[in-house]
Amino acid sequence: MIISVSGKGGTGKTTVTSLILKALVENTDKAILLIDADPSTNVPLVLGLNLEKTVGEVVNKFRKGLEDGSLAYVAKDSLLEGWIYETLKETTRFDVLAMGRTEGEGCYCYVNSVLASIIDKIEKNYDIVLLDMEAGLEHLSRRTDHDVDLLLVITDTSKTGLETARRIKELTKEVHIKVGKILLIGNKFPPEVEDMLKREAEKIGLKVAGIVPVDENVMTYLMEGKSLLDLPSDSPAFVSVKEICKRIGLI
Ligand SMILES: Nc1ncnc2c1ncn2[C@@H]1O[C@H](COP(=O)(O)OP(=O)(O)O)[C@@H](O)[C@H]1O
Ligand SMILES: [Mg+2]
Repeated sequence: MIISVSGKGGTGKTTVTSLILKALVENTDKAILLIDADPSTNVPLVLGLNLEKTVGEVVNKFRKGLEDGSLAYVAKDSLLEGWIYETLKETTRFDVLAMGRTEGEGCYCYVNSVLASIIDKIEKNYDIVLLDMEAGLEHLSRRTDHDVDLLLVITDTSKTGLETARRIKELTKEVHIKVGKILLIGNKFPPEVEDMLKREAEKIGLKVAGIVPVDENVMTYLMEGKSLLDLPSDSPAFVSVKEICKRIGLI
């Protein structure tokens, strides 16, 4: 099952993704891969993980090798595959793949298609793949996404958050990404505003999976550099995310 978490920047994609991960880790024994698809690679910070390399870094090295001819006589595809596997961060309960940033302009169709097939292959080793996407819509226009079973769109109470959600829904149609289900999550939402979110969501043809409140613990944990996975189980944001996970059948 592939779950992608999208939305406007700062709405709480990484936070909600981390709390979904926590709910999955604590309540299932599924094999989980978390892919940090945001070039700014925030997941390791939020989960207190030490990540040595990103996929982007090894892809850059690979491209350089293609350009200077040093890879002329090697099995290129399996070389890149090996390098990408080396970037995979394994923990006892889940693995993390950080996409990072690739440099340079121009068409790297060959590299991109090899990369896509390697990522597909890696994903097949897991029961659940959680994708923490980069902000906004660029990734959808660049068609770097693949089909997903569940697209969770995070919005805050801002008008632009909802507008981004609407555009994401429209764009998935335009770029022909197959999406099993799209659900909206209101993050940093006061309970009184949930009904209003439902009404607004209905206008843009989206269903609401639930809302997550502002949680002081989330703030202090991030400031102190503690992993969100260690958040107390009665912490309000986690309680809500766990409820949402139950409601949508993830746990
Ligand atoms: N439910 C919440 N309660 C308190 N702070 C939150 C909550 N969700 C997100 N934040 C804070 O908002 C900021 C942006 O969240 P983040 O998850 O990094 O957003 P995104 O990944 O969408 O850019 C972070 O500083 C984070 O700590
Ligand atoms: Mg993020």
